[in-house]
Order: sequence, then structure tokens, then C-alpha cells
Amino acid sequence: MTKCKICNIKTKQIISFGKMPISNAFVKKVHKNEFVYPLSVVFCPSCYMVQLGQVPKPEVMFNPNYAFFSTTSKVMEEHFKEVAQEIIALTKRKKDPFVVELGSNDGIMLRHIKKAKINHLGVEPAANVAKIAEEQGINVLKDFFDEKVSQKIIKKYFHADIIFTANSLLSIEELNSTFRGFANLLSEDGILIFEDPYIYDVAKLASFDQIYDEHIFFFSGLSVGELGARHSLQLVDMKHQDVHGGSMRYYLKKKKKNNKVSKRVKYFISREKRARLNKVEGYENFKDRVNKICVDLKNTLTKLKKQGHRIAAYGATSKSTTLLTYAGIGPKLIEYITDNTPTKIDKFTPGTHIPVKSREYFLKNPPSYALLLAWNHKKEIIAKEKKYHKKGGKFVTYFPKVTIE
Ligand code: TMP
Repeated sequence: MTKCKICNIKTKQIISFGKMPISNAFVKKVHKNEFVYPLSVVFCPSCYMVQLGQVPKPEVMFNPNYAFFSTTSKVMEEHFKEVAQEIIALTKRKKDPFVVELGSNDGIMLRHIKKAKINHLGVEPAANVAKIAEEQGINVLKDFFDEKVSQKIIKKYFHADIIFTANSLLSIEELNSTFRGFANLLSEDGILIFEDPYIYDVAKLASFDQIYDEHIFFFSGLSVGELGARHSLQLVDMKHQDVHGGSMRYYLKKKKKNNKVSKRVKYFISREKRARLNKVEGYENFKDRVNKICVDLKNTLTKLKKQGHRIAAYGATSKSTTLLTYAGIGPKLIEYITDNTPTKIDKFTPGTHIPVKSREYFLKNPPSYALLLAWNHKKEIIAKEKKYHKKGGKFVTYFPKVTIE
């Protein structure tokens, strides 16, 4: 039985997906010996953390040619600009504030902090994206953040007034070490701000494609409160975000009697309790809902294909690896997937081996139906592909149920 990665208590299984390839391991050539690992999700009855049963080694997930670039979406660019504005406002009264970002990627957020002439440091282990940030004059430490690295930063720079990180804590298996690092690095009235996909939304939509090798933890106010408390940090605010299919931004401060806790914390945690996310029973029907979506989606695509329609997909997302593999949807049904990430184009999807093509290819070879794998960017993509839609092209979505529009 898997033990909780936070508190070492026996966990309870929510769902098992069987063998899965690494979500971002796009291959140049189709070959049969791709690395696979057993993908499952478990729940800790003590700290309420929903987490992967087994995690592949970070070396097989993140390599120097890691294919994820933050700046592939206009909406995400705007989102991180707003984050930077919030951070700039929060540090306004500080003399010489210091902002640290973990997983600073290609500098999508820190470029605004740099422009505002605020002391900053990005901590980013993926060399190719870190290089893009450095080329814009952003300070980057190419490392995995942990307790040791926090000491290194304090020695070389200062304590941090703001620590920000988005879509990265969910990927760190040694989260206790990271939180010990946060507790070290934060200044006395510093704020740790982080955002990640929100388990309440995943449970509500049955959006199981959020579950893959890089997404080790699925946070809630309940579990973040518990995790913070183990490291003398207090959850003081929560703000819901529409990005990544429903995310939550959490704010934590060093535990103090006079910390002001926002009403939103009480509101979100009560709502989580009403959905029974403090018990494994809250996830009781998740597996059945996931299986129904997979069967319905495969049946719909098979029917369309039999009718002679051409089907492609939009967005070779990491999360689509779980969907395509678990639902058994491959190149027999999907002709190609279009994606705007240069390092993914002309490669094949992990495990299912569907060719990835550029947007130009999509415009020249429009299918009758496009399976919207990047469903979290739906608004932006539908707006961008107005012409495709106008000419009769349709999008297929699947959360919470299969829909053609
Ligand atoms: P994400 O959901 O992890 O951000 O990944 C989105 C993927 O979709 C990424 O590979 C880029 C791709 N994409 C496009 O190809 N076109 C678009 O307009 C958008 C927004 C994303």
C-alpha cells in the first residue's frame, strides 16, 4: 500500500490507469521500447492530499530538452502579467523587495518584475527554457529548489518578500523539503503565493487528464492548510483562477497570531467539505465517470470515422497522454495533432504515436472534427480558429461529457 508523501500515513486508492508513457516524451521516431510506469491516484485520510501512487524519477520527466514552454498562449501571458502586477502592488511599501520564482520557465512572469526593476531570482532546472529567460536579462539559478538551495539563496541574496510559483509544486515529490525551504527563505512578513490545478474542479468535471507523471499532487484548501501547518505556515488567502481547467491560488505566511485570514479561505474549505473532499468517499464515483467519458469519446470518434470524416486533434498537451492512452485513441482515429510548440512539431505523441503538426499544416489540411485536447485553452483557440469554425469545422470536447460544437 502506498504511503502519503506528506505524512507517511497509509493512503486509499481513487483510480488506477495501468501502464502509462511519460507525458512529455514526444518521440522523433516510432519505437516499441518507450519507458512506461503504473499511473494511479491515491488519497491520504490524514492530510487530505490527493497524489500519485507511484512517481517516475525526475530525470526521466525533466531533461535538458524538456518540451514545455510557458509562452505558447496569449491568455497565459496575460495571466502572468496580472500575477506580476499583483506582486508589484504587494511589494510597493517594501524597501528593496526580493521576489523569488520557482519554475520561472522562459520568464513569462519575471520579465515584468525585472522591468519594474525589482530584485528577483528565478529557480529553473530546465536548461533550455532557463536560457530564454536569461537572454531577456532575468536572473536564473538553474537548479531544483529544496531546503539546501534555499540556504544558498539566502547566503547569496536575501530572504524573500514574495515567493511565487505556478504549476510547479504539484510536480515536486519531496514537497516537505520544498516547504522547509520556503519557511527558511521567507522574510518575517513574506508571502508564499502558489497556484496549481484545483482538485475540486478536477473532481467536479472528472477531468482525469490532469493526472500524469508531472502532476504528483492535487491540492485543495484542506490539504494546503495541513501541509502549511506542518511547516509553521498559515493559509491566509485563496483566489480561484480560470486557467488550466480550474486552478487555485494559495497565499501562506509564517504562522503568527495577528495574521489576517481572508473570508475566502473559510468559504472554499467549507465548499470542499460539502463535496466530501476530506474523505475518500468524496472521490467514490470518479472512476465510473472517467470510464464513461472514455467509452463515449471513443464511440463518438469511431462513429465519425466510419461516416468518412477526417478527425485531427488540437493541442499536443501533456495531459492528452493520459486521455489518449487510457481511452485507447491513436492514429487510426486521429490523423494528426496540431500544436504551436516548435519542439513538439514533427514528432509523435508518447505511446499512442500520433504525428504532431504545425498550425500551418492544420490550416492547409483542416479536418471535419478537431478533438480539443487543449480544452483548458478553449476560449483562446476557438477565437483564433474562427475561420475553421465558420467553414463548418467542429470541435469535440469531453469534460464533463462528450460535446460537439
Ligand atoms: P498546456 O495546457 O499544458 O498549457 O498545453 C497547451 C498545449 O497546447 C501546448 O502544447 C501548446 C498548445 N497550444 C496550441 O497549439 N495552440 C494554442 O493556441 C494554444 C493556446 C495552445
